[in-house]
Amino acid sequence: MKIETALTKLFSIEYPIVQGGMIWVSGWKLAAAVSNAGALGLIGGGSMEPELFREHIRKCRQATRKPFGVNIPLISKYAEQLVQVTLEEKVPIVFTSAGNPAKFTERLKAEGATVVHVIANVRFARKAEAAGVDAVVAEGFEAGGHNGLDEITTLVLVPQVVDAVNIPVIAAGGIADGRGMCAALALGAAGVQIGTRFAASEESSAHPKYKQAIVEADDTATALIMKKLIPVRLIKNKFYQEIKSLEEKGASITEMARFLGKGRARQAIFEGDLEEGEIEVGQAAGLIRDILPAGEIVKRLVQEYQLAKSRLP
Ligand SMILES: Cc1cc2nc3c(=O)[nH]c(=O)nc-3n(C[C@H](O)[C@H](O)[C@H](O)COP(=O)(O)O)c2cc1C
Repeated sequence: MKIETALTKLFSIEYPIVQGGMIWVSGWKLAAAVSNAGALGLIGGGSMEPELFREHIRKCRQATRKPFGVNIPLISKYAEQLVQVTLEEKVPIVFTSAGNPAKFTERLKAEGATVVHVIANVRFARKAEAAGVDAVVAEGFEAGGHNGLDEITTLVLVPQVVDAVNIPVIAAGGIADGRGMCAALALGAAGVQIGTRFAASEESSAHPKYKQAIVEADDTATALIMKKLIPVRLIKNKFYQEIKSLEEKGASITEMARFLGKGRARQAIFEGDLEEGEIEVGQAAGLIRDILPAGEIVKRLVQEYQLAKSRLP
């Protein structure tokens, strides 16, 4: 049975579930599998060069007839070219993140795209709405990957954003099953964006060791770190301990950036180096016990959601 919300209408999908665009994780295989299951799959453009991104869009289009979209982090050095490829390939749904929503929204919308921007506080939600986006993702402190500075949890962020804007709000951060989805919709969200649960799926392009790290993680496994440089939630491994002790010693931004170097996320997520790499994972990892096909994840989310809803007093 369909679950109809403002979001399913906006994207013409069956379930108000978005698979978050994720660097090194969400290529065409994952996005297509999620879209084929009735949710919205997103190709994560943040770890791709423009021509590879184009290839993923074309392959996704061959693998599904259902709507799918792309995610473009505006901090990508290729952001401008990724937007250009998106327009050339006529992708109708574009999620932007990590930057100023005013930068590309007008251009994308003029070409007919539906635009969604990811925010982590009320001020930026208002700014995104003023920039003309069609919806916002309100991403809380629990989320995997890059995060806001203010440590606002999903539970308190979502209703405040819902109150502040007149466009649909998609809740993200800490949602890995239908109970979380039910809670998010109760808070007024029109849908959910889920990252970590889909990172541990069969179609995720992440390394098997990274997926296994999610399955093995418990409730205390992750932390938000590098708030001075670029806040990110990751598993507390050797790299985390090292960067944390640098932070505690009062290292400057330059020193931290030098230590971070380049490619730490790729090292962990794509190449499986769980010692030296940045294992970007959300707190919801503690809820994840298995690696499943993405379509099965969507199916279970919907079933669990119905059950959770029916059990409310
Ligand atoms: C490995 C990983 C990579 C991510 N990469 C991106 C990205 O490139 N762009 C983006 O907007 N969000 C990115 N995110 C955030 C997700 O899209 C999503 O909003 C977040 O994971 C939701 O929280 P959850 O992990 O608790 O489900 C990433 C998350 C993870 C775990």
